[in-house]
Amino acid sequence: MDKNAVYRTNIIGAGEVGSAISIDMDKNVIHKTNSLFWDTKGNDVLGATSLPLYGAFVSEEKCQLFGDVSGKKILEIGCGSGQSLQYMGERKASELWGMDISENQIEKTRQRLTSSGLSANLICSPMEEKCGIPQDYFDFVYSIYAIGWTTDLENTFCRIASYLKKDGVFIFSWSHPIHKCVVAENNMLIFKKSYFDESWYSVALDESQLTLSDRKLSTYVNALAKAGFVIEQMIEQTDEELMKNDDFSNKAKMLPVTFVIKARKL
Ligand SMILES: C[S@@+](CC[C@H](N)C(=O)[O-])C[C@H]1O[C@@H](n2cnc3c(N)ncnc32)[C@H](O)[C@@H]1O
Repeated sequence: MDKNAVYRTNIIGAGEVGSAISIDMDKNVIHKTNSLFWDTKGNDVLGATSLPLYGAFVSEEKCQLFGDVSGKKILEIGCGSGQSLQYMGERKASELWGMDISENQIEKTRQRLTSSGLSANLICSPMEEKCGIPQDYFDFVYSIYAIGWTTDLENTFCRIASYLKKDGVFIFSWSHPIHKCVVAENNMLIFKKSYFDESWYSVALDESQLTLSDRKLSTYVNALAKAGFVIEQMIEQTDEELMKNDDFSNKAKMLPVTFVIKARKL
């Protein structure tokens, strides 16, 4: 695995959040702001986080959450520029589906898969909305650093459950909420915001805006339960082998920067 890939995957940490501006939650405005960011800046500013990495310091190679995906029907929520779908295609998934709010990201995915000799059904839509994805169809639905962008977590998890076959598996990774609260300064870890604060805020990155909120872990767990999932595994630990001697790695030695959940549809 390319070790450099772990960098620029978690730029939005407590440093950026500390200077954020609180805003009202308006789904349409948030979608407009965020899709503009991903249409124009996106991975050029934030970098990509894609399988086999779930985040900076957690990998599928070590965790083996998917196991053998050959012959499986697979959907990615927030497919970004398509690296993870390519990873699944190269492991002989029988059908690849991807969805993303950004036309630009969908186009990047299409180009990447075509140049790798793979094909996928790609849909441009917010994950919160009905968009023609088949129901009771998929063996796996997954999402790498995209679920947290939803403006309606409970509704999104219910939709994802509807796409899965019974006993189908949903795996997602996202920034650990504690990583968003704590900043490393002068060899100390300092709390910059309340873990309990789930309000929406806007962050300026490279002359563009992004809008998001940091949900507590219990918010994810309870929304999964409400949508009819049972959690099979949760990963918070970081893989020391992926770390370097820099501030981000040093922070990750003290607290989780990523969490991953594997859940099964009942
Ligand atoms: C950090 S990227 C993760 C994607 C991929 N793993 C990567 O690193 O390229 C987040 C993706 O979520 C998409 N996104 C943001 N809000 C979304 C929404 N409400 N519905 C669907 N996709 C959304 C963005 O367009 C972007 O491609």
